[in-house]
Amino acid sequence: MEDPAVAGLAAVLTPAGLALLDALPPYGEVDGLVLGERLRAQGHDPVLVAAALTQSRLRARARAKFGSFADDMLFTAAGLEQATRLPVAARHAHRFVAAGLARVADLGCGVGGDASALAGLGLGVLAVDSDEPTAAVAAANLRRFPDARVRCEDVTATDLDGVDGVWLDPARRDERGRRVLDPRRASPPLSFAEGLARERPVGVKVAPGIDHDLVPAGWEAQWTSVDGDVVEAALWSGALARPGVRRSAVVVRGGTAAVVDDTADPFAASAPPVGPVGRHLYEPDGAVVRAGLVGAVVAALDGRLVDPSIAYVTADARLELPSATGYVVDEVLPFGLKPLRARLRERGVGRLTIKKRGTAVEPEELRRRLRLSGPEEAVVVLTRVAGRQSALLCRALPTPGRATPDAGG
Ligand SMILES: C[S@@+](CC[C@H](N)C(=O)[O-])C[C@H]1O[C@@H](n2cnc3c(N)ncnc32)[C@H](O)[C@@H]1O
Repeated sequence: MEDPAVAGLAAVLTPAGLALLDALPPYGEVDGLVLGERLRAQGHDPVLVAAALTQSRLRARARAKFGSFADDMLFTAAGLEQATRLPVAARHAHRFVAAGLARVADLGCGVGGDASALAGLGLGVLAVDSDEPTAAVAAANLRRFPDARVRCEDVTATDLDGVDGVWLDPARRDERGRRVLDPRRASPPLSFAEGLARERPVGVKVAPGIDHDLVPAGWEAQWTSVDGDVVEAALWSGALARPGVRRSAVVVRGGTAAVVDDTADPFAASAPPVGPVGRHLYEPDGAVVRAGLVGAVVAALDGRLVDPSIAYVTADARLELPSATGYVVDEVLPFGLKPLRARLRERGVGRLTIKKRGTAVEPEELRRRLRLSGPEEAVVVLTRVAGRQSALLCRALPTPGRATPDAGG
């Protein structure tokens, strides 16, 4: 028996199906059940109606990744979940353009998040996926690009004749749907990308938690965060890697992007200095931490770590860095529930942001036990300072690209 999701997708992928989808009211404006009933009463095939309503819901969800482009795209639920969001896909595509590669294969293209960005920057694209409905959706999403082709086949069998560079975003779920962190177990595995890289430059997406030792020699590894969440790492070979850069981080926030390279980290081969808490505390972005580039933040601030094993940087200087969130430190207390509660009461703190690194404290449990009340707002940073569990009472500094409450310093 045919999979109803596949039958529905086939129905949407017809001129009449696409016309019905595009004629639907904005998602959420009319109750889905009422709308479905109305469309069926008008004589539309129930399978098509269900599939069109599913696409309408997925398009609404996809706006978080693709903005208004989502309104012209098709999705599968799994394909949307795995798709690269547009600002990140555009950065991938830009690498190929900057390397002068004109024809790119996207091997394991999913619904075409990356492939659309590659095609959108004017590159010729060969997009390949072994999953039939997914490849059909990718073809629909690439329909406006005359120089993009989609093939449904296993990428290990793809003929790459005429292809200048390859992008891979391997599937990172096992048969039971669990996340696979090790790129050697992804589909296709990292070894496949390494093999392709002998012939032409390759970019491959991996989980942000990748062991640095697995990055092939001579490749650039770049970690990316979007609005504070680390979304990926990508490994770049040959002309796609920037000369002399082995590790880098991109911090995308509010539409702007800042890049930190290991060339800016004077402590790459040594340990950054450690010292007492100064007037300000800085929390490096997660992509910077994953890339092992906290030393670059230390250097930019002319600062020091509060503890050798913890990624908090302190400095007297007040600087607005895109790669770190800054705080004014008002007090450093030895950590203990009672003194912290007393101090927050004295200050009238009713709204508290709890940050922690290097401590087992459960923030929500702590918040409950602090029984906060009052009109003031504060940030408490729980961490080790020179080996001692400490609580740093702070206020937020503005971060470029992010709205923050006023904070003096
Ligand atoms: C993470 S998704 C790609 C998402 C895509 N970059 C995007 O932005 O939409 C990985 C895709 O690789 C496909 N895939 C995994 N192994 C494959 C193989 N050996 N041959 C072809 N496709 C494969 C899966 O079907 C899945 O659609």
